[in-house]
Amino acid sequence: MAPTQDALYADIDLALSWSERDLPERERTKHVHRLHPYLGKFIPQLVEVLLERYFRPGQHVLDPFAGSGTTLVQALESGLDATGVDVAAFNCLLMQVKTRAYNPFVVERELRAAHARVGELGGDRPSAYLRRWYAPQAARELLGFRSIVDDYEHSDVLRVVLARAARSARRTTHFDLDFPREPQLEPYWCHKHRRECRPVETSAQFLRRYTLDTLARLREFAHLRARGRTATVIHGDVREQELGRFDGVLTSPPYPGLIDYHEQHRYAYELLGLDDRREREVGAAAAGTSRPALAAYSDGIVAALVNAKHSLRRGAPVLIVANDRRDLYPEILERADLRLEERLRRHVNRRTGRRAGEFFEDVLIAR
Ligand SMILES: C[S@@+](CC[C@H](N)C(=O)[O-])C[C@H]1O[C@@H](n2cnc3c(N)ncnc32)[C@H](O)[C@@H]1O
Repeated sequence: MAPTQDALYADIDLALSWSERDLPERERTKHVHRLHPYLGKFIPQLVEVLLERYFRPGQHVLDPFAGSGTTLVQALESGLDATGVDVAAFNCLLMQVKTRAYNPFVVERELRAAHARVGELGGDRPSAYLRRWYAPQAARELLGFRSIVDDYEHSDVLRVVLARAARSARRTTHFDLDFPREPQLEPYWCHKHRRECRPVETSAQFLRRYTLDTLARLREFAHLRARGRTATVIHGDVREQELGRFDGVLTSPPYPGLIDYHEQHRYAYELLGLDDRREREVGAAAAGTSRPALAAYSDGIVAALVNAKHSLRRGAPVLIVANDRRDLYPEILERADLRLEERLRRHVNRRTGRRAGEFFEDVLIAR
């Protein structure tokens, strides 16, 4: 007889539902996980537990919706190789910068040299986007920094610093950094700081701070990652991507109608001239949650899982972290010919900002 939904729920709530005190912000954003903000990532400690439970050191894990690279970074920490696929170019840049093995002396020399040059002006004239979203001085400083990044071997690290500074230097309110709709041009009452705040005028302070912060985070991770293990990043649509051979999958797919993964880093696409493939995102917020949009979402996840499955040996674990409040996944798994073995429920209680609120997410264990 098939197990009932409830029987599939394993009673490991305590093990996966950390309180704020068990797992403070500092731990959840440790080392390279905080090289750049990213909305919609899963917490590293959840990935760590799942890798330990379902994989062995030396194995190779695939994340077909790799996002900011949490699976890849934790795999390197736990002694596994990892491959991550993502359709969004900025996410791939971020993953590459987080997971590359650096010569520490070269990174240190280059980041310190770039730090000393923050404030040098030059570069191109600001685009319409920059003129709208940045104060004139802030835009000049960002463009000045952009004009020096190619002078360095680790220009990609500097591109991520530039993007992070650009995020902070936008003319927006402090409480609406995720998806600001209109530039904030005047002083405003700030709910976050409970006082009057002003839109940012300059970006040099962010460029300096994040250059040094990035250096410290890369250094910290270099000490923690296992020797000889590597991460591979593939920029593409995972439904059509040719993949290698893997020992299992660990992923958190996009949820329908929740987040636009290109749009959340719009400033980076504008400044870095990255390839925009948003029309290939599965479940983009822009597509909404109408019945046809949900059907297209399910088709997209099924196609991704079927493709990923071809790269696995028989019986390999497929772990999916999902907030499946529409109960789409039982059918998705069935259509992908995956057998749901267990469902672990996790209490998520510390979302911040406008998306605050309590909710649960499931870890689906399929084979
Ligand atoms: C929920 S996020 C993954 C976050 C990740 N677990 C982390 O911790 O950063 C889902 C990701 O799927 C990516 N994505 C959406 N459609 C895709 C597609 N067709 N092929 C590959 N990646 C896609 C999005 O760009 C997004 O980064």
